[in-house]
Amino acid sequence: MFARTALRTSVAAARPASARLFSQSSAAQRAVAVLGASGGIGQPLSLLLKLNPDVTDLRLYDIRLAPGVGADISHVNTPAKTTGYAPEELEKALEGAEVILIPAGVPRKPGMTRDDLFNTNASIVRDLAKAAAKVSPKAHILVISNPVNSTVPIVAEVFKKAGVYDPKRLFGVTTLDVTRASTFLSGIAGSHPAETKVPVIGGHSGVTIVPLLSQAAQSSSVNPGEQYEKLVHRIQFGGDEVVKAKDGAGSATLSMAYAAAVFAESLIKALNGAKGIKECTFVESPLFKDVAPFFASPVELGPEGVENIPALPSLTEEEQKLLDACLPDLQKNISKGVKWVAENP
Ligand code: NAD
Ligand code: LMR
Repeated sequence: MFARTALRTSVAAARPASARLFSQSSAAQRAVAVLGASGGIGQPLSLLLKLNPDVTDLRLYDIRLAPGVGADISHVNTPAKTTGYAPEELEKALEGAEVILIPAGVPRKPGMTRDDLFNTNASIVRDLAKAAAKVSPKAHILVISNPVNSTVPIVAEVFKKAGVYDPKRLFGVTTLDVTRASTFLSGIAGSHPAETKVPVIGGHSGVTIVPLLSQAAQSSSVNPGEQYEKLVHRIQFGGDEVVKAKDGAGSATLSMAYAAAVFAESLIKALNGAKGIKECTFVESPLFKDVAPFFASPVELGPEGVENIPALPSLTEEEQKLLDACLPDLQKNISKGVKWVAENP
């Protein structure tokens, strides 16, 4: 049995250095809700949030098992008050929530694309967004449910319709792409993953995932041509690797829970006033707004959520080609979400 501080140290050491996981508590603390808390992502994510000293009030909601998951996690001896809510208690779970993470929805099976999840997950996300817009309209919403390229615009449209949309407070969680890029590049470069930072822009599926390997300090370790192309492909299709290995039992859950906990930690620290926090995330963005009004890129986070979306660094010829391939798909995915909500309000 190892001490909690040892667990914290080991998790923090494995974390890209920009914001260390669960390093210290900030002054203000936060009420956080997880919708889909009993699932493959929801359970480990809820546990990681319970370990975050900035989370004081943790609400776990699902259409099944959440009171049990809540009772279990509530016995962990960290300060966050933890409650599991029954299926009919969604609004109660959302009252006063300041950060809402949404991993509710079905995962892929081998042979499926993320877009194949649209028909099931669109209505799940729409309904949860409606409840959030009604009960906690000022909350920061972190969407994990796939297809993220479409579910984020769905949440935006629901909030617009309710008259409470604030683009600074809506995020598609793409941290897993950054996590994979860091892991895979460090495997080639022989570097420590924490020191291997690769911004990943675009969206969250296949060719819409665009790693900017040229921005990594280790970029020269990757040979141009085949090695570069294989690495890009592995980052773009890392999700498929897990779906195949799980052989019908779902997609990435543990690495995703870690990635979402990292993003939530950064956001909460920024909300609490920490300076200089930047994470890649899929947000309403001016960068390519006429083609893709939502776009993932490194975003500066602040007390209101999105603080600034810096211009992209200059891209290599290969990265420009990847971006050119990304934008048409991303445009279709975004339009699909917007159109669907208009037809299915
Ligand atoms: P899962 O099936 O294990 O869990 C999903 C949970 O959602 C279940 O517990 C289910 O009961 C719950 N749920 C369903 N409808 C609900 C509703 N209306 N309200 C509340 N809860 C509801 O699936 P998972 O592996 O945890 O994956 C969840 C989603 O996350 C999938 O869509 C998956 O594709 C996506 N995902 C995204 C990323 C990313 O990088 N953004 C990474 C991995 C998985
Ligand atoms: C991932 O990137 O692992 C997730 O989006 C899940 C999936 O379907 O691949």
